[in-house]
Amino acid sequence: MGIGVESLVKKYGGKTIVDNVGFHIADGELVSLLGPSGCGKTTTLRCIAGLETPEGGRIAIGDEVVFDAASGVTVEPYHRNIGMVFQSYAIWPHMTVFENVAFPLRVRGASQTEVERRVVRALDRVGLGAFRDRSSQQLSGGQQQRVAVARAIVHEPAVLLFDEPLSNLDARLRDQTRAEIRALQRELNIATIYVTHDQTEALSLSDRILVMRDGRIEQFGTPEEIYARPSDMFVAEVVGTANFFDIVVDDAGLGRDSGGTVFRTAFPGAAPGKARAMVRPDRLRIGADDGAGGPNRLRGTVRQRLFMGGYYEYVVETASARPRVLSAEAFAEGTPVVLSFNDENCIFLARD
Ligand SMILES: Nc1ncnc2c1ncn2[C@@H]1O[C@H](COP(=O)(O)OP(=O)(O)OP(=O)(O)O)[C@@H](O)[C@H]1O
Ligand SMILES: [Mg+2]
Repeated sequence: MGIGVESLVKKYGGKTIVDNVGFHIADGELVSLLGPSGCGKTTTLRCIAGLETPEGGRIAIGDEVVFDAASGVTVEPYHRNIGMVFQSYAIWPHMTVFENVAFPLRVRGASQTEVERRVVRALDRVGLGAFRDRSSQQLSGGQQQRVAVARAIVHEPAVLLFDEPLSNLDARLRDQTRAEIRALQRELNIATIYVTHDQTEALSLSDRILVMRDGRIEQFGTPEEIYARPSDMFVAEVVGTANFFDIVVDDAGLGRDSGGTVFRTAFPGAAPGKARAMVRPDRLRIGADDGAGGPNRLRGTVRQRLFMGGYYEYVVETASARPRVLSAEAFAEGTPVVLSFNDENCIFLARD
C-alpha cells in the first residue's frame, strides 16, 4: 500500500510546474507538503488524484500503477482508490448531507444497502450522525468541512489527500479539527498527503514533511530532522524561525563572524569560505556577561524584550546579527549579555 511517485513532471503552457518529483509514502503515514504559494503543491496532489495529466513519470497507489507516461497507463479519477478534501470543501448545496457523502459510492455503483451502511458509519466517524437529512446549505463552515471529510473516507480509500482543508476555519476550530483529522487518519491507518502553508500545522501533524520549492523537493524528513538540520536557508526559514550569522569557515572547519566569535558545529562538511551559521531561538541560552571566552559564546546587548506569557522573546544585538532568543529569565533592555549554544544546535549552511 502507500503512495509511490517517480520522476513526476507537469507543465502548463510550456512552463514546468512540477519538476521531476519523486517520493514514497508508507501505509499509515501522514506527510505534509509544505512550501510557498505557487511552488506546485496543489498541482502535485491533482496529478495523484488524476485531475491533471502529467507529461512524465509514474504514480502508484497501493499496488496499482494509476499513471505511467512510459507505458501510457492513465486510470480515471473515480477508479483511483483515493479520498480528497479540498480547501473549498466542494459540498453540493442542492444535496442533503447524506447524498453528498453517498456520492463516491453511487458513482462506483454500490447497492442501496451498502450505501446506507457506509454513509451512516462515515457520518458517525466525523460526529455528524444526527445531520444526515439536513440540507447542506444549513451547515456551518466546520460542519461542511466534516461532510467533506466523511465523503472522502466513505468508500474506504487506500489514500487520503488534503489540500489546505482548514484554511477557511477560524483559529480555534482549526486547532480542534486538525487534531480530529490526525486521530481519524491514525484510526484508518492510511497513507495521507496534507498540503499546507502553515509550518506549525506541518510540524505538529506530520510523520514526515516534504518541503517544496519551485516545483522541486527541497528536503524530505521528519519534523525534528527538518527543524534541527535544514538542508539550506530556504528550508530553515520555511520551518520555524531561524537566526543566521554571517561567518567565514577556516580549513579546520571553524567559523568566525565579523566580531571574532568562533562558531563550532557538531556537523562537519562545510566548505571553507563564506557561509552562514544557523541557531534556532529556542537553542540560544541567554545569560549575564561573565567575561568568559571560548567558542559558541556571543557577546551582545538586549535591544528588545517582549513578554509572551510563559517566556520572554528577546532581540539581542551582536557584532554581526540581531538574533531572537527565547528565555524564561528576565533581562532589561540595554543589558550586556552572552548568548551561548551547543555544537549540535549550530549548523553551517551555504549562503544563497
Ligand atoms: N490550470 C493552470 N493553468 C496554468 N497554470 C497553472 C494552472 N494551475 C496552476 N498553475 C500555475 O502553476 C503554479 C503552481 O500552482 P499550484 O496551485 O500547484 O501552487 P500551490 O503550491 O498549490 O500554491 P498555493 O499555496 O497558493 O495553493 C502556479 O504558478 C500557478 O499559477
Ligand atoms: Mg494550492
